Amino acid sequence: MIGSNQDSVEEILLKISGLSETESLKLLATQFQEASVFSTSFSFEDQVITDLLVKMQLPVEIFTLDTGRLFPETYSTWVQTLEKYNTRVTAYYPDATALQEFVAEKGPNSFYESVENRKSCCHIRKVEPLQRALKGKKLWITGIRSEHSQNRNDMQPVEWDAVNQVLKYHPLLHWTTEQVKEYIRQNNVPYNPLHDKGFVSIGCAPCTRAVRPGEDFRAGRWWWEDSSKKECGLHVHEEATVKQ
Ligand code: ADX
Ligand code: SF4
Repeated sequence: MIGSNQDSVEEILLKISGLSETESLKLLATQFQEASVFSTSFSFEDQVITDLLVKMQLPVEIFTLDTGRLFPETYSTWVQTLEKYNTRVTAYYPDATALQEFVAEKGPNSFYESVENRKSCCHIRKVEPLQRALKGKKLWITGIRSEHSQNRNDMQPVEWDAVNQVLKYHPLLHWTTEQVKEYIRQNNVPYNPLHDKGFVSIGCAPCTRAVRPGEDFRAGRWWWEDSSKKECGLHVHEEATVKQ
């Protein structure tokens, strides 16, 4: 049976090799039907995927993790997306009690004080809600691109997420920023205006800044931390990527 372990990963990689992104998306979404989901942060690449999914009318649930600390521009992009595509986006929220206790104990901006606090905040606001969103699902589509960071460079478009027991598929893994922008322009896709102000990878407002020309894409995320610690826990399983 497809979709349960790393053998399936290799089987699927073989199945989609030589296919275009749209053909692969169609094939996998149709195969997994209601058990497939797409996570959007309303970034450039996520908007391309939403556009493709809606245009092809694929049976994939779209969800977002509303951390409560997103940029106002991200919420505006969310609204524009609903308006343009007339589609449903399910929002997952942090557990109210866990968040209430954490903020009461540490304060609202404790992520600047230590990596431990930052990781706890990411866990409560993103990772645990993600686990709820992926429960019972078989295919998780993401907008990860290899240009995003060093450790996304050698990934494959399909991998097994052992933590969430789900297959991950990154249809735009090998797209360049220019390709993403071109698709957005040609298809009149609504996008986060922060991308025009030097923001490359957009997460929570207190933890994301614009990137200067020549700086690494990831430099704008948790910029006060050592670069080796810059993951929030959504994609920890990347290390387990299967090589072809
Ligand atoms: S992160 O690990 O640094 O937070 P990044 O911003 O690179 O992730 O985004 C990579 C992919 O993770 C996105 O294309 C999207 O699929 C998913 N993602 C990131 N943040 C969110 C979010 N708030 N809600 C839903 N999906 C998200
Ligand atoms: Fe908290 Fe910052 Fe992580 Fe958002 S990115 S969940 S605000 S630590």
